[in-house]
Amino acid sequence: MSNLLITNIGELVTSAGNRPIPAGEINLSVLRDAAVFISNGKIKEIGPSNTLEEKYPESFTVDVDGKTVIPGFVDPHTHLIYAGCRHEEFLEKLRGASYTEILKKGGGINSTVRATRSASRNELLRLALERARIMFEFGTTTIEIKSGYGLNYDDEKKILEVADELREKVPQDIVVTFLGAHTVPFDFYDRRKHYIELLLKKMIPDFRGLAEFFDIFIEDGAFSPEEARMILKVAKESGYYLKVHADQLNNLGGGGIAADFGAISAEHLDYVSEESLEKMGKSGTIGVLLPTSTFFLRLKKAPPVELFRKYHVPMALATDHNPGTSPFYSMQSAMVMGIFNFGMKPEEAFVAATLNAAFSIRRGGVVGSIEPGKKADLLILDTHSWVHLFYEPDKNHVEYVIKNGEFVYERVGNRLESNDKFYS
Ligand code: NIG
Ligand code: FE
Repeated sequence: MSNLLITNIGELVTSAGNRPIPAGEINLSVLRDAAVFISNGKIKEIGPSNTLEEKYPESFTVDVDGKTVIPGFVDPHTHLIYAGCRHEEFLEKLRGASYTEILKKGGGINSTVRATRSASRNELLRLALERARIMFEFGTTTIEIKSGYGLNYDDEKKILEVADELREKVPQDIVVTFLGAHTVPFDFYDRRKHYIELLLKKMIPDFRGLAEFFDIFIEDGAFSPEEARMILKVAKESGYYLKVHADQLNNLGGGGIAADFGAISAEHLDYVSEESLEKMGKSGTIGVLLPTSTFFLRLKKAPPVELFRKYHVPMALATDHNPGTSPFYSMQSAMVMGIFNFGMKPEEAFVAATLNAAFSIRRGGVVGSIEPGKKADLLILDTHSWVHLFYEPDKNHVEYVIKNGEFVYERVGNRLESNDKFYS
């Protein structure tokens, strides 16, 4: 199917532009009675249904009956590759234990490190595939994946290679980040300096070919701001683009450090200071907000969205999928929680989950909006208006996923041939 015309779109919703959209700036168009013409996997033209139907009469045409079409979601922060689960620790946390207490006792991230080190490549691949499938059904067509549960040379390499292998196995586009600086692993507790040396001298230089981004967790129980500066300097010199897990549980100035190093993004930012946001505004560092993680950790804080607007910091959203702080899959949930828990405007949340998310992983020129020249990664929603994404907040609204101009996923639901009373 090299030419495809999608017509009779009730609302075609997209932002547009060649830069991340600053918080507070409304950049969203809602075109009614619209159509999209797709050729060779790319968006060629958008416009009124009748105009494009006349212009492209020969193309394979799909009439979507007034439904909503939006760009595929971009999930720019996931820890998709891991083994094991942490449900017992989850119960401990519900009984009052803190995330950092568990981490410092050798649990938390370290418990996933143990399970991931013991898992074979095939097992990790199988688990990640299943997670990517669920995300696809929620409409995610591009995924960033971080390593960070190996935390030694061989196991970090194993995870990065699994991420690479995944590219051939899933419909999504994959962007890979090396997070060897997730925490100091349990077997290096009395050799902290050695772990940092291993990062600086071996892993950072050797893994550049496997990862586009470098990320570090600056936090009590992970890396200090001083260590982070030293490590980020080497990572930058080695040619990685930078990301930082910043100000998630305390304000350690992580957002400001990200800005100082010209990082593409700083992520979490529940405790970010005004000073850091001012720096991020100047450096153009995108704030990737992770409201499902904030929710799951039951943090009392939320990113100060009003200050993001004041300093024109672009906001992106992600699921932060991981087994400790965010076992979530859906960018729809991230948007809903961004609105209800963080006070984002619906337009801001939409841009954050699409165009700004794409820019936060350096893909803003290829995905994240419905514009001529971009990949035809599109979702057909089951509703006449995009507002239903938030108005019916716990429904998966994705009915079809189109990736590179091909229909890849169709939710059978009401079309299922079945004797079941729901479907007859
Ligand atoms: O993004 N904050 C650090 N890393 C993950 C959690 C990792 C874990 O607990 O396993 C996060 O929240
Ligand atoms: Fe994370």
